Amino acid sequence: MTTLIICGAAGDLAGRYLLPALARLLAADALPDDLRVRGISREPLDTASFREHVRSSLAEHAADLPDGVAGALIGRCEYLSADVTDAGDLTEALTDATGPVIAYLALPPALFAPAISALAKAGLPADARVVVEKPFGQDQASARHLNELLAEVVAEPGVFRVDHFLAKQTVQNVLGLRFANRIFEPMWNSVHIDRVDIVWDETLALEGRAGYYDRSGALRDMIQNHLLQLLCLVAMEPPQTLGERDLRDRKVQLLRSVRGMTPEEAARRTVRARYTAGTSRGRPVPDYTAEPGVDPANGTETFAEVTLAIDNWRWAGVPFRLRSGKALGTARSEISVHFKPVPHLAFGQSQQAVANVLRLRLAPDRIDLLVNLNGEGDPFDLETAELGADLAPQELPAYSRLLLDVLEGDPSLTIRDDEAEESWRIVEPILAAWQDGAAPLLEYPAGSQGPNTA
Ligand code: BG6
Repeated sequence: MTTLIICGAAGDLAGRYLLPALARLLAADALPDDLRVRGISREPLDTASFREHVRSSLAEHAADLPDGVAGALIGRCEYLSADVTDAGDLTEALTDATGPVIAYLALPPALFAPAISALAKAGLPADARVVVEKPFGQDQASARHLNELLAEVVAEPGVFRVDHFLAKQTVQNVLGLRFANRIFEPMWNSVHIDRVDIVWDETLALEGRAGYYDRSGALRDMIQNHLLQLLCLVAMEPPQTLGERDLRDRKVQLLRSVRGMTPEEAARRTVRARYTAGTSRGRPVPDYTAEPGVDPANGTETFAEVTLAIDNWRWAGVPFRLRSGKALGTARSEISVHFKPVPHLAFGQSQQAVANVLRLRLAPDRIDLLVNLNGEGDPFDLETAELGADLAPQELPAYSRLLLDVLEGDPSLTIRDDEAEESWRIVEPILAAWQDGAAPLLEYPAGSQGPNTA
């Protein structure tokens, strides 16, 4: 029997993402028959009341499940009220776990280290898998510390530092587009590409997440993990195979070549801002500092933009702009690759050609290529056109795919220990420069397009 222990089972992450993801796997007949779910958290529940909690979470976050699926998942759930940082409690949680064990840490980040230590003391089997959510550390030192603790519990292939962006369809799209098409890869370098934008603009505001977000901010919440992972896929060298080692070697190699910023560069090449009161999607949004649970003294940014340089042969001189913000007027999530203009235009002085842009849109998934064509009328009049394709949605949503990989023991689309530390190496100097006032904290009204300088 496989035991999935969800530490923090009564929390928001489990209710909003994990339990629905498990239910969708069950609906797709992709959940192992012998899997049982053992929820643990400090909430004083028992199995019956936990099952009720699972039922209401599924009704709220996976209302479209086929009949019978919720009941079938609930039947596999049991609960233990326990302190996830207490080795004695965890020992109890592990009793009678005779087959494979997966410990999923769906916990507030402050509990990662004590929970991992407790798992070690509780005698988690060496072949168990441990799943750690983001944020993996607050800086490079804390990420290294977590890595060291994890290494004492299970070997690296058993550690799943998950980033649900890697389970989004986009990952497959970037890899397929780059490495299965003869026409793109020869152009994929500084000779032909002028700049790359990786943008995740959200209309969502804080959504009641101040407890976590006010201590993270946009740079830690989105750029340190999700957008740097997208950068890896867009900019890494071709891997020999898509096996976990080849793929993750390439990603970490790319991260190593991202230039760390000096405070002066951070002042010139980054933007940080937070939203003030406004209207987003027709709803009034309060000033960020007036959101419940926010401490204005934290100076947390809700918008971050960083322009990174990659010091390698392929990308020298090409700026990579990573940007993400909350409470913006328009949701936009895309990777846009801007090509250089053609060296000579033979169409006369009056004609202008746009530079080609390849857009990989992430939500919904779509690919567009902006090209110049001969238009109507005078055969030499240029017009622009977008060649595009909608991509069929994947059968399973990102969290279910991620869980499936965990259940199958495939860590390819997770973050390796060295990658996690390397990402912080890039982000940490920016955070330090911001702390020292290198870039002012700008403001933008909720519902706008962000700060003017972005
Ligand atoms: C999460 C961030 O990891 O990703 C959120 O914490 C963000 O702030 C979210 O809104 C975006 O991803 P998705 O897939 O939920 O749209």
